[in-house]
Amino acid sequence: SGASRPRLAFLGTGYLGATYAICFAELGYEVLGFDVDEAKIAKLGAGQVPFHEPGLDELLRTNLASGRLRFTTSYETVADFADVHFICVGTPQRADGMGADLAYVEASVTNLARHLKRRALIVGKSTVPVGTAEWVEQLVAKHADPELGVEVAWSPEFLQEGFAVEDVLRPNRIVVGVRSEWSNGMLYAAHKGVFDLAATEDREVPLVVTDFATAELVKVAANAFLATKISFINAMAEVCEVAGGDVTQLAKAIGYDPRIGNRFLQAGVGFGGGCLPKDIRAFQARAQELGAGEALRFLHEVDLINQRRRTRVLTLAAELLGRRAGPAGPDLSGTRIAVLGSAFKPNSDDVRDAPALAVATALSTAGADVHVYDPQGMENARIKQPTLTYETSMVEAVTGAELVCVLTEWAEFRNADPFALGDLVAGKRVIDGRNCLDPARWARAGWLYRGMGRPTPA
Ligand code: UGA
Repeated sequence: SGASRPRLAFLGTGYLGATYAICFAELGYEVLGFDVDEAKIAKLGAGQVPFHEPGLDELLRTNLASGRLRFTTSYETVADFADVHFICVGTPQRADGMGADLAYVEASVTNLARHLKRRALIVGKSTVPVGTAEWVEQLVAKHADPELGVEVAWSPEFLQEGFAVEDVLRPNRIVVGVRSEWSNGMLYAAHKGVFDLAATEDREVPLVVTDFATAELVKVAANAFLATKISFINAMAEVCEVAGGDVTQLAKAIGYDPRIGNRFLQAGVGFGGGCLPKDIRAFQARAQELGAGEALRFLHEVDLINQRRRTRVLTLAAELLGRRAGPAGPDLSGTRIAVLGSAFKPNSDDVRDAPALAVATALSTAGADVHVYDPQGMENARIKQPTLTYETSMVEAVTGAELVCVLTEWAEFRNADPFALGDLVAGKRVIDGRNCLDPARWARAGWLYRGMGRPTPA
């Protein structure tokens, strides 16, 4: 097998690796997915995606059937199979809360390198601190047979949950950090399916070929920028709240300037998920280690603004329910609150660092009887916060509630009828934590409405 049609392996079949493996099989490559987790591999091999991602189940089944996609738990098998190995394992937040834990990267690279019997390219995809690619290169030098000429490259990914299939098949750019013409050529061949698909659709996918450090930094810089953009608009929401402005109109107005752009300017309870919060912390920690801590000090502020939005919901809840906030926060005992949403964003079942679940927990800690409903995030929420009450529908969650908090902007909540819901609640009070409801309509239905950085409707 040569560079014309390289065989691809994806090591780590979590969200990232599984999505890539399945989509690259769809593009026509021979693909092997590897994981040390036998249960996960068995599930994937049987055609079941172990997480929620639109469109992926069907692609998994058709590509398993085509024979282009297989899964294994054997390092020997994967080392023997592929020309290009993508490292897609997790890089969780370290126990100290700041840096990234590279134990899985180390284990997968070391074991793979030891088993290689032919020339191959090892490509990092996981989000890592800058400098990791060089360290991986040293690991490979130490554990792979030097005669083979195994090389390392870096190619970050930019998948958004809910759009991951599109983001792999039709990415807005491909970034590769390479050291040699050989690895550059191999990576080009490994992505040719993406470029070919674009050509048939009369599109172009920009390719950025760069060094290791830049390739690693592109990923964290992009996420830091997105987090900053969200916290910027949330900071404006804070100012609107005291000045009497409307942040949704402000966002719209500044967003018309193409240099600013209208996307990722949605004020609300802030960002969560498995990436943005953890990435900005790890980025700061790494910059600090490198002696550029000051350059990223603003990211600490980005984080604080984000946390303050969660607290804001508690303050609004106390205010709407007529409770005074003591030094330890508001006392909400004896109140019943419906929380609509637990996932960190709509169309996802992911509750990692989810603002909705964090606020639900804080309301409960403040003494409220919290009833949560989410169209998909309930199973994961129950595992993470077993003490909250989970309901099987929006109607059940809001029935008898004195306050309804909409914290994830699912279509089901956006389109909810305030007149119908008004008949079910014990008190018509609503906090729109995502500014996804029409304040005037809810006010007409008799609700006391509070948004984030929006004035209260007359
Ligand atoms: C994010 C990035 O958008 C991806 O490009 C990146 O590849 C990915 O992290 C990653 O590092 O793997 P994701 O975590 O799926 O993707 O979620 P986003 O759509 O970015 O949303 C993040 C959070 O920001 C959500 O909680 C969302 O509700 C919030 N958000 C987003 C806002 O509060 N306001 C906005 O205007 C946009």
